[in-house]
Amino acid sequence: SLEKSLRPQRLAQYIGQDQVKTELQVYIAAAKQRQESLDHVLLYGPPGLGKTTLAMVIANEMQVSIRTTSGPAIERPGDLVAILNELEPGDVLFIDEIHRLPKVVEEMLYSAMEDFFVDIIIGQGPTAHPVHFPLPPFTLIGATTRAGLLSAPLRDRFGIVAHMAYYDESALTEIVQRSADIFDTQIAGTGAHEIARRSRGTPRIANRLLKRIRDFAQVAQQDTIDQSIVQRALQLLQVDTRGLDVVDQKLLHTMIEFYNGGPVGLSTLAANIGEETDTIEEMYEPYLLQIGFIKRTPRGRIATELAYQHLGLTPPTK
Ligand code: ADE
Repeated sequence: SLEKSLRPQRLAQYIGQDQVKTELQVYIAAAKQRQESLDHVLLYGPPGLGKTTLAMVIANEMQVSIRTTSGPAIERPGDLVAILNELEPGDVLFIDEIHRLPKVVEEMLYSAMEDFFVDIIIGQGPTAHPVHFPLPPFTLIGATTRAGLLSAPLRDRFGIVAHMAYYDESALTEIVQRSADIFDTQIAGTGAHEIARRSRGTPRIANRLLKRIRDFAQVAQQDTIDQSIVQRALQLLQVDTRGLDVVDQKLLHTMIEFYNGGPVGLSTLAANIGEETDTIEEMYEPYLLQIGFIKRTPRGRIATELAYQHLGLTPPTK
């Protein structure tokens, strides 16, 4: 599918995240030279930055299979044993949202990661007995939005910890051009750059906007996506010049107009705009913090002067 082919297969095709890429290149080459499995990898950072894609690229570079699951999907220890039981030596097990693993499952991962075995209890009551279950060497790749969400014992068992950062405009421009190429869509440099500027540092957002703008251009019978059609389409989609969508805008307007710029608590804000606190904390806040539109204080979130300026509002005088 198109969706699938958008994902790069090799590290050399993966755009951006240069620090992470440079390190991984070394660790992958070294593990391959020694004919060992790659050490366990923790990928942390905001959603949409390519953690799942990178896990697939790593497995591909290691020439092993990848098994993909998520923290909430592994409900009981037996679920984990079933997955581990199917791994071949060197395989990658990718666990997305690894911070949401049930505690009993997480504890079982410790020995699996460290010494490649699990101890399981077979049977119930008086016939219950422990069974030592050896595993093939494997690579666990865990993904989470913040490393701080993991318990220290789990975090400490990852030999490789990689922070995924927001992409800069030039990397995002390149990603948009690559995706347009895969979609067989013509795009001007100015058009690609305008999408990049408005994608909140996030390839998933850039690719989503590209698809909608492509629809828009097609219906308008315009064969090349240029800056002006990007501007018109994004106005329709209510994505502003900094890439803020209606939720970001509502968040800032609520802080400013209901709470005089704050400080205001996260749960109060969430209730006001009708979003989950987790969604705000993981998807919206990090970018607004990054561009300096909000700040976190011990008494809650505050909107900065930059946010007022961006919305064309006058900051309160101190
Ligand atoms: N598509 C989405 N993210 C990408 C990346 N980092 N590199 C190349 N293509 C991508």
